[in-house]
Amino acid sequence: MNDPLVDKRGRRVRDLRISITDRCNFRCVYCMPKTVFGRDYPFLPRNELLSFEEIARLARIFAAQGVQKIRLTGGEPLLRRDIEQLIELLAAIPGIEITLTTNGSLLPQRARSLKAAGLQRVTVSLDALDDAIFARMNDVGFPVARVLEGIAAAEAAGLAPVKINMVVKRGMNDGEIVPMAEHFRGTGQILRFIEYMDVGSSNGWRMEEVVPSAEIVARIGAVHPIDAVVPAYAGEVAERWRYRDGGGEIGVISSVTHAFCGGCTRVRLSTEGKLYTCLFAQHGSDLRQLLRDGRTDDEIAAAVAGIWLARDDRYSEIRGEQTAAQKKIEMSYIGG
Ligand code: GTP
Ligand code: 5AD
Ligand code: SF4
Ligand code: SF4
Repeated sequence: MNDPLVDKRGRRVRDLRISITDRCNFRCVYCMPKTVFGRDYPFLPRNELLSFEEIARLARIFAAQGVQKIRLTGGEPLLRRDIEQLIELLAAIPGIEITLTTNGSLLPQRARSLKAAGLQRVTVSLDALDDAIFARMNDVGFPVARVLEGIAAAEAAGLAPVKINMVVKRGMNDGEIVPMAEHFRGTGQILRFIEYMDVGSSNGWRMEEVVPSAEIVARIGAVHPIDAVVPAYAGEVAERWRYRDGGGEIGVISSVTHAFCGGCTRVRLSTEGKLYTCLFAQHGSDLRQLLRDGRTDDEIAAAVAGIWLARDDRYSEIRGEQTAAQKKIEMSYIGG
């Protein structure tokens, strides 16, 4: 392995997030609102997507530059056919942890084959336990029970510990904070509350709709006392809290009220092979062109190094009305 890449602020590359489809069977209001992602939305045609071989080749190049963790995302990654084949290719790279973020809808039937292919863990998005509230959040009326089945299937298959992501939007699902905490307490599954973010340009984000993590912690702590846990590693995205009575832990991800750009170790590869060094970027670098132009691994590695060394991203630190209004890449395209 080469020396890990370190950017101008001393941030080393560690996590590679790969979006493998820009499509989803949900229409979450904070991610792919129906008004924008309707029937006529121009999703990418198949030949624009990186092939599994192209993704695996880039993953090997990144691994040699310091990446230790790969997360497959989307859109909904389980909508891409045969992703077990991709996971097998990635699992053959030494020293890489492979994880996946999913809405859970297809996990009941896929958990075992994903595990057998070499997937290590999953994170499942679930924003409410109440069916009516969940339906309002995902806008397709998918039943909560089926997502819970997916979580159980993941755990039974050994894709553990399962993490649950709940995006909190004030006035929509903030009444579910305590019920969700109580549901997952004592299960070994780790619930993380995520501040609603201004990713992309479609979700009509307003600061008033963000529930600060401090408020979430206070609301849960008032019912079940919790203590802060020391971070497991520098650059950890979630702040962790542990129930005093041994009921396990929760996490809060405070990208709005407590930016963590100073420890940002993530790089994102879009469905069509553009590389982004920030979730809120406006432009990416085209790696697919390099692959299809017949460049060598060393040439591609040099291009990647140049991009990481030049990065100066700190969007969450400088967020304001003006930045929120900028045209940014959508989360369904760049990966959650
Ligand atoms: P693990 O601990 O390995 O499971 O991963 P993680 O803690 O990084 O969690 P995950 O990758 O599931 O990220 C959780 C959520 O945090 C994402 O879905 C985003 O909403 C948010 N998030 C993740 N990475 C970033 C980032 O680099 N910047 C910002 N602003 N938000 C992020
Ligand atoms: N704010 C916060 N998190 C978001 N995600 C998608 N859109 C947003 C947003 N606007 C994240 C959630 C979800 C994952 C797929 O992407 O964590 O679980
Ligand atoms: Fe789909 Fe996940 Fe986006 Fe919801 S958050 S629309 S499940 S990609
Ligand atoms: Fe990293 Fe950009 Fe998120 Fe900051 S806003 S933590 S630089 S991805």
